[in-house]
Parts: sequence; C-alpha cells; structure tokens
Amino acid sequence: MLIGTMKCILITIFAFAADAQRIPVAPLTEAQVESRVSGLLKSMTQSEKIGQLNQLFVFPEAPPDGPAAKLGLAPTDQEIAKGDYGSFLFVTDPSVINRMQHVAVDKSRLHIPLLFGFDVIHGFKTIFPVPLALAASWDPALVEQAQAVAAREASAAGVRWAFGPMVDIARDPRWGRIVEGAGEDPFLGSAMARAQVRGFQGKYLGEPGHVVTSVKHFAGYGAADGGRDYDSSSISDEQLWNVDLPPFHAAVEAGAGTVMSAYMDLNGVPATANSFLLQDVLRRAWGFRGFVVSDAFAVANLTTHGFAKDAEDAAFRAITAGVDMDMGSRTYIRQLPKLLESGRVSSKQLDDAVRPILATKVRMGLFEDPYVDESGARSIFASPDHRELARVAAQRSAVLFRNEGSLLPLPRGSKFASIAVIGPLADSQLDIRGPWALADDPGQAITVLKGIRDKVGSGTRVEYARGGELRRVYPSMFDAIRHSRKTVPLTDEQNVAEVRAAVELASQSDLAILVLGETQEMSGEGASRTSLELPGKQQELLAKVAATGKPVVLVLLNGRPLDLTWASQHIPAILEAWFPGAQGGNAVADLLFGDANPGGKLPVTFPRNVGQVPIYYAHNLTHQPDTAADFTSRYWDQPTSPLYPFGYGLSYTTFEFSNLRVDQGSSVEVRVDVKNTGDRAGDEVVQLYIHQQFGSASRPVRELKGFQRIALTPNEKKEVHFTLGGNELEYWSAALRKMVRERSVFDVWVGGDSKAQLHSTFTVLRP
Ligand code: NOJ
Repeated sequence: MLIGTMKCILITIFAFAADAQRIPVAPLTEAQVESRVSGLLKSMTQSEKIGQLNQLFVFPEAPPDGPAAKLGLAPTDQEIAKGDYGSFLFVTDPSVINRMQHVAVDKSRLHIPLLFGFDVIHGFKTIFPVPLALAASWDPALVEQAQAVAAREASAAGVRWAFGPMVDIARDPRWGRIVEGAGEDPFLGSAMARAQVRGFQGKYLGEPGHVVTSVKHFAGYGAADGGRDYDSSSISDEQLWNVDLPPFHAAVEAGAGTVMSAYMDLNGVPATANSFLLQDVLRRAWGFRGFVVSDAFAVANLTTHGFAKDAEDAAFRAITAGVDMDMGSRTYIRQLPKLLESGRVSSKQLDDAVRPILATKVRMGLFEDPYVDESGARSIFASPDHRELARVAAQRSAVLFRNEGSLLPLPRGSKFASIAVIGPLADSQLDIRGPWALADDPGQAITVLKGIRDKVGSGTRVEYARGGELRRVYPSMFDAIRHSRKTVPLTDEQNVAEVRAAVELASQSDLAILVLGETQEMSGEGASRTSLELPGKQQELLAKVAATGKPVVLVLLNGRPLDLTWASQHIPAILEAWFPGAQGGNAVADLLFGDANPGGKLPVTFPRNVGQVPIYYAHNLTHQPDTAADFTSRYWDQPTSPLYPFGYGLSYTTFEFSNLRVDQGSSVEVRVDVKNTGDRAGDEVVQLYIHQQFGSASRPVRELKGFQRIALTPNEKKEVHFTLGGNELEYWSAALRKMVRERSVFDVWVGGDSKAQLHSTFTVLRP
C-alpha cells in the first residue's frame, strides 16, 4: 500500500448558481452580438418573432411517392418571405439551401437568414464509424478531428447546425440508440462530449467551416424503461447528477450553442416541459446561454403524454419551461398568438426565446454570409483526406475480443491461399455505414469483401457467399427518404440453399471470414430489441461454418452489445468492428492482415445474455457482493460477471503494467509504467479507476477517472501520469443533496480494462 504525504485537497463547494456559460465568440464581441440582436428585436413584429421559433422538416430530395412526401412538409416561398420559419431541417442540397436562403434574405422585411440543421451524427458526406465506435477508440483528439471533418462538409453544403453530439449515457443494450452515444460511462462520455463540441464548433461559434452543435437528448433519454425507445425514465437524483448529467455539463462548458430536449418523461414530467431540467439545471446551475430546441414533434406530443390539456396548453408549457424552438410540430406558430393575446405568455417571454436564436445566427455569421459556394462544396465533399481519416478512425475504433493461437493477423500468401468471405453483411454498402448516414452516397462505401479483395492481391483466392438474407425489421422512414430498398425477400428454401452454399464454400477454403451483426436500421432510433443474439439465422450460419473445422474469423458489424457467449467459446478470432463507416471495409482488411493493430476498448459492457441487463461496471457494492456463496448478489444460472467488461480489448501485442506510484499534494498524482512486451508496435489504453471506500453515500465499486491511449514499439516502456484533482474525487451525495468531496480512503487501480489488478490506496484527510 502506498500512501504519500498527506496534504489537504482543496474543496470547492458546489454552487447552484453558476457563472454564465462562456461561448467563445470571435471576431464578434458579446456587446456587438447583443446590440445587433436588440436592434432586430425592436424592429420585429410579433409574428416575425414567433416565426423564428418555428422549425420545419423539409425533404426536397424525397421520392415523390415516399413517406416524407405524405407528411406534406413543403413551405411556400411566401411563407418563408413572411418570416414564418426560423429554421429548416433535413435540407442538405447546397443549391436548395441557397435558393431558400435567397428567399429569406432577399424577400423578407428584415432579411433574417435561415438556420439549416441536420442530423450530422458520424459524418455528412464522408461517413465515419458510429459514435459508439468512435468512443471505443478512447481517442478524443481523433473524435474531434472526425467531427471537424463532418462540420466542414456540412457547412460547405449550407448546413450550419448539427443535431449532435448525443451524449446520453446508455446502460441497456436493448435500447437501439446506444449506438449514437459514447456508452455507459460518464467520465468517458464527458471526454467524448467535449471533443465533439470542439470538433463541430471549432475554436469559436461561427468559425468558418464549422457548425453549431445541439447536445441531446436533455436529459435521461438513455434510461428508457425496458430499453424501449421513447419510454419513461425513472432516475434517482443520485444517478442523474453522477451519471446522466455530467456529459451534458461537459458539453455546455465546452461552449455548446444549443441543446435538444428529450422525448420521454423524466420521473413523470416530460423533458420538453421540464423546468427543473431546462431552467434549474441548464440555465441556472450551468449558466447555459444558447437556445433549446425540442425534439421532433415533441411540443405537440405533450398532449400525447397525457400532460398538456391541448395544443395551446402544450405550447404554453413548453415555452414557459424553456424550450425556445419547436421542431416540426408547428404548435408554437399556431398557438403562441392566442397565448400572447390572452397574456398567458408575455412579450418578454417571447423575446427571451427569440433572443438566443437570433444571437446564434449573428454569431454563426449568417447575416454576413448566408450562402454557400456550390462548386467549392463539391470539392470539399470529395476530399481524399476525409476518407483517409475515416479509415484511420475505423481502425482505431475496432475492438479485438478473442485471438486464440494468434490466428490474427492473417499471413498473406501460401498459408491461406483461399479465403471464404461469408455473411449477409460482408458485401452490403448500405449496412456498413450504420444508422444516421443520410446525406452521403452509399455507392462510395467500401465493404469488408472489397477491402479484403483489394488487400490480398492476386495470389489469394477470395470468394464470397452471402449465407442467407438478413431480413430488415421494418423499413426506416429516413432510409426510405434517401434510398429505395425494393428487394424481394428470399423464400425459406432459397435461404436454406444460400446457407448450404456458404458452408460448402467454407469447406473448400483454407479460412472463413464471417461478417455478421446487424443491418443498419437494427440499431438506432426506434430500434429496440428484446434479444441480443445475432439476428435472423446468423448464429446457425456461424455454427455450421465453424463445424467445417476450418479456421474461422468473426467480424462483427453492429451498433450495440451482442450476446456472443457461444462465439466466445467456439470461434478463435473475433473482431468487433461496429458500424465502421464508409471506409470500414478497408479498415477491417488493414486490421485482419496486420497493417493496423487493434487498440480499441469497450465503452460499454458486453453481457453474457440479455437477462443480465442492465449490467455496467460502476455498480455499487450492495449488502452482499457476489462471492459465489449463498445469499449474495448473484444469479443461480449464470455468473454475475459480464462476457467482456467495460474497457476491454486485445491487441496483437501484449502490455505489462508496473510500478504504480501515488503521491499526494494539492492533488493526487498517479504514475505507472507501461511496457510493450510483445513483438509488434501497438496501442494500449491506460485506464485509471478509483473507489471511495466510505462516505455519506455508497460509491461505485470502480469509477473511471483517467485514461490515455498510448503507442508503444516492442520493448518500449513509457511512464503514464494521471492527476486526480478535486473534480475527479467529488460526487453528488444523495444524503447531503449536493456535490461533495469527503474524507475517505480511496482505492486506485491502473490497467488495460475495468478489471485492472495493479492497485494502491490513498487517504484524503482534509477534502
Ligand atoms: C428525432 C431524434 O430523436 C433526434 O435525435 C433527431 O435529431 C431528430 N429526430 C431530427 O431528426
């Protein structure tokens, strides 16, 4: 046990009223923004002000017979010129954006430009790995670069507002939207939130080539009952402050310009009319000064919740709670005139909602520069640098689960002269991109089959068999907007024949690479599942191919933790590639053949089966921790441990941790030596966990409080240094109802995953 010199650690009392959020603005000063906005507000009519709060979906590129057209969401030029809209979402074509912007700027009375928003989640034209995968890189600098590329492409098109990052903590893999966030942990989630805000927004709001963010979904959306999307969240104060809110706070501190309210009710009050969240926490405690947009149709749906009496009441409750802009439901534009006339909503309340929207448009430079250069946009979209970064991001996001007998990396040449590439996802350009890939050209996506073919060259025979169809659960509306998938499903007999052909191919080959997982819409919005098993007949395909006795590599393309218990016992090599994006096939081939070495780590626990859910590493100790004795916290039919723990991931090399030192001064300094003990260069994510042994509340058995991804050549040793300052040692105490730092003894572990063994302790005597 190492205990350094005991010195006091400074305490800062949790202050409920915080300083106002500092959104960096340059070249404009705060005063310039204020004066411009006040000037506009003085000249605006009431209906022009209400128009600024109205955002409408438009799908100009939708097929005329598709679901979008049925929604009938086409604004007229007269409406735009009258100032009925402050913002549109889903327009991505630069020429359409320019045209609409001309109407707003040239034909309207006050020439107020439109703000175009879009779900820029993991790329715009260049599709990067999904956010859960990006989090698995444990590389915030990479994530920042990826979102900076997405921002560059989106802003080139005229989209200056990204509906991201999604920073909802998710501990239930049944919930499909787990794919859009950074996983289960607030510390990693906060690091990813900050990185994404920086990447999207740049150094200041309005930096050319950047966009304003919308941090979502505020707050608690990831805790949906039963993992059912949109369902209620019941979250204790302790969990809310310690787990769900920190990534939002981190994003707001990083300068996030807008926040999107969530769909569900939090402890009974819909988030879109929740003044505790939108006023007490966001504006008063955190000093947020941007604007809040509802999620789509959420204002109108306050009646569906059984919360608002009617549409008028819905508008009243949303705007008074602090939702400034109504996404899609037209409730504000229809109801606010009545509410203002009756005096239920004051003109000051209206101005308070309009002000931050106008300020955002001023800061973004839209008044000076509302249009885009259409031909310039095309060359930005085609940038080879963007594709290269997407490839690197996919390499760095992959997690190696198993590698028995060092099957990977695959040697090129004689040993495996014939390779069978099998699986319904192996050659699917649509699916490798994942959900929320809406503005790109799927024809540019590189599948795993293509990546492998391009990699191996002519000396190796690569043959492909689909091995049956992976039926889509239901066509996603967004997908139907952009791409028609009018395929005729295979008959059962055809599927059986395809499986047979795949097994036959494997048995005639030296090696089988199976590419299995989920189709793009099986994870994402409205994509909850009650099973985590490989969907369709993929498990059967996997077992039959494995039964041929040929060496098998399993490559997974998916957006959530899956039940891989069988595969973990029978398949020698398993690579989790997630939905790796449009360069995914190249990146997977780089990893399989050793041109890149896996270094990603799990941002979320992989359970043994769905019955363990929710399962996460940072649980409390309980009255009787699991010790395999009777009457402890355990199942009688399965271990309580997960299949793969948080932070887990292998490499083609090995690492050794030693010499853990803890020194205390005004902060706690932790140092450890990490050595590459294998024969290949590789990356290790060095992770630091703590546990507060006693205090005014029980604390999780382990909590991540530091990480660094480092690169080491064979035999190279590096010292890694972490500082545990006040922020890392504080938490929100349910007993004291505030943020506290307490006198206590703390365990500290450092290692390559959340099961790290290298251990020490330190004592905080005077917090
Ligand atoms: C609903 C989703 O919940 C949200 O994340 C998204 O930004 C909006 N739709 C707009 O597409």
